[in-house]
Amino acid sequence: MTTIGIHDLALATAHHVVDLSELATDRGVDPGKYLTGLGQTSMSFPAPDEDIVTMGATAARTLLHRTGTDQVRWLLFATESGVDQSKSAAVYAHRLLDLPSHVRAVEFKQACYAGTAALQAALGIVARNPHDQVLVITSDVARYALNSSGEPTQGAGAVAMLVSANPGLLEIEPISGVATRDVDDFWRPNDASTAVVDGRLSVAAYIDSLMLAWDDYAARGGKPVDQIDRFVYHQPFTRMAVKAHLALARHTGMPGDTAAMGAGLEYNRLLGNSYTASLYAGLAALLDSDITLAGQRIGLFSYGSGSVGEFFTGVVQPGYDRTWHHQATADVLAARSPLSVSAYEKLHAVALPSDTDADTPHVTAGPYRFAGIENQARRYESTV
Ligand code: COA
Repeated sequence: MTTIGIHDLALATAHHVVDLSELATDRGVDPGKYLTGLGQTSMSFPAPDEDIVTMGATAARTLLHRTGTDQVRWLLFATESGVDQSKSAAVYAHRLLDLPSHVRAVEFKQACYAGTAALQAALGIVARNPHDQVLVITSDVARYALNSSGEPTQGAGAVAMLVSANPGLLEIEPISGVATRDVDDFWRPNDASTAVVDGRLSVAAYIDSLMLAWDDYAARGGKPVDQIDRFVYHQPFTRMAVKAHLALARHTGMPGDTAAMGAGLEYNRLLGNSYTASLYAGLAALLDSDITLAGQRIGLFSYGSGSVGEFFTGVVQPGYDRTWHHQATADVLAARSPLSVSAYEKLHAVALPSDTDADTPHVTAGPYRFAGIENQARRYESTV
């Protein structure tokens, strides 16, 4: 039988990193609140010449160097922090990656959930044409207002995944539980660069969504909870995933500890929130930390405020440990350049008006950069 799922994935992040102990001290907050209460130690922050397109294309470049592009027919780009109301980030990335014109390009949106929507669409595309492969890029910059309670839960990152038949990494199983409800817990008006969030409501809505999605998963014949070996959750901050897992344990009767989460929080703790990419950064962390997962079933919960939640499962494929790049993501995170709190605040304030020509300074060390605005159009360039 043909299996379908994630053949390989790669992560990229922004040039800078802000230390959350320093931010807490500057804000007059006990660092324990950020480090332990939220479970975050640092957050990635983009240079002026970086955005979702440059991060997403960088992640995809790493991935496609390993897999090639011969069978790719679609590029699905999922993001909450889109750069244009009409033209998809996928088309910009398509050019930077030098993909052939027969690869379709489109953008998906539903807050942090959109990456999972793109993944599910990709699975359907491959089911129809098993020879085709789909490049899914999840990429986001999580921005909240300075001095707001959301500020320490910012971050930036991208995960690119290749979806194919007979995947080398994770077969995605067909049963999935879904919970869609109209909730005003987080949104971003068209003219706003930072999100509007009711933080407490978003935490409660996330947990409610998980319970509803689990119940739908179970009602559709999903696996009993004791046949799911590991769990990975969307991580707006890593403590959120811990709260979610303990709530699911109470709901289902599984052990009330976090052993089944493995080391799936370790990258997000350093990365911060990466919205659509966050769940898949968690998956990368889990896979990186353990080479003995072949045959194990992973439960994944995706949540996007507004809101859509989905619980689904994947089985780690035999032999993944021979091809998986265990150190690659840790190296990407270690390469970031530290940013002081005052320098971060200055960068946070930068907003290029879309109707004025401007060049950005060359800061990023990545292969692609956002070069500025010309005739109201965003300009991207490759440095490789
Ligand atoms: N040492 C250790 N823990 C501490 C602490 C300290 N000195 N001070 C506070 N804490 C704990 C609190 O007890 C709390 O833990 P708990 O939730 O387990 O009780 C945690 O730190 C956070 O404190 P809280 O007062 O709830 O934080 P906040 O109200 O300032 O902000 C959010 C928290 C999540 C509401 C805020 O970061 C936010 O709005 N984030 C963006 C939205 C988001 O990520 N939503 C998630 C669902 S999508």
